Amino acid sequence: MARKIVVTSGKGGVGKTTVACALACYLASRGKNVVLCDADFGLNNIDVALGVENAVTFDLVDVIEGRCRATQALVSHPAYPTLKILTSSHSAPERYVSPQALKVVLDSLTPKFDYIFIDCPAGIDEGFHRAISVADEAIIVTTPRISALRDADKVITLLKSYRLKGVSLVVNKIRGDLLASGESLSPEEIADLLRLPLIGVIPEEYAIYQGDFSSLHGALKTLGNNLLLGKNKTYDVTRKYRGFWGSIRKAVKRSI
Ligand SMILES: Nc1ncnc2c1ncn2[C@@H]1O[C@H](COP(=O)(O)OP(=O)(O)OP(=O)(O)O)[C@@H](O)[C@H]1O
Ligand SMILES: [Mg+2]
Repeated sequence: MARKIVVTSGKGGVGKTTVACALACYLASRGKNVVLCDADFGLNNIDVALGVENAVTFDLVDVIEGRCRATQALVSHPAYPTLKILTSSHSAPERYVSPQALKVVLDSLTPKFDYIFIDCPAGIDEGFHRAISVADEAIIVTTPRISALRDADKVITLLKSYRLKGVSLVVNKIRGDLLASGESLSPEEIADLLRLPLIGVIPEEYAIYQGDFSSLHGALKTLGNNLLLGKNKTYDVTRKYRGFWGSIRKAVKRSI
């Protein structure tokens, strides 16, 4: 039976979709059967982030309205065939999708998969509650910025009214150079502030802005294994900014 994990944050643009896509790809590369469900009905973009937009025939609303079965709406990732993408609708108004309807669709897929990731929209409105209500567990994504931390804290409070089996933290867009020189909050400090187990530390990498997750391999491996094995190992984002060459990298990064 699949673990249904919602990836949420409150604040927009902190990397929910990126973390959900990258984690889903990593677990599929480890042979896991994974569904990545886009529950962001307003600004859905998982199909574009994973480059499958032209392969989409049916979407979630088609499944909910009975035009196809859930399995027919799944799009296989070109590089990781055990990763299936369930896109949300660009056209149908959001009001057509009730939490119950989404739950029925995802529950029908649970027996066939190991993981179902639900990409949550930004904010704490109806779309947020719909995405949370269909999940068993939550990953909160934040960045070291104060505004993101404040929103994450609000979301943690809201999650208390749901009976989730686990809530964990991924700190994204960490600048290793700033962390190494003590100018950024560390992921551990953030986890202490938010009182959540830290399962992922993801560096800010320019390549990700262009949709390339390969530079995240080490960070994703740690995050993926933490999720698979229930561990809390930390990926060290400052490693490449230590020592002689590290100081040069740090100086170059600062001059950009
Ligand atoms: N670790 C990272 N390093 C560099 N860029 C990143 C990283 N994580 C995410 N990004 C970039 O930040 C932008 C926002 O990321 P993303 O769309 O994943 O955020 P989101 O939380 O899903 O946003 P929304 O709230 O709008 O759904 C994207 O351009 C993405 O490529
Ligand atoms: Mg998103």
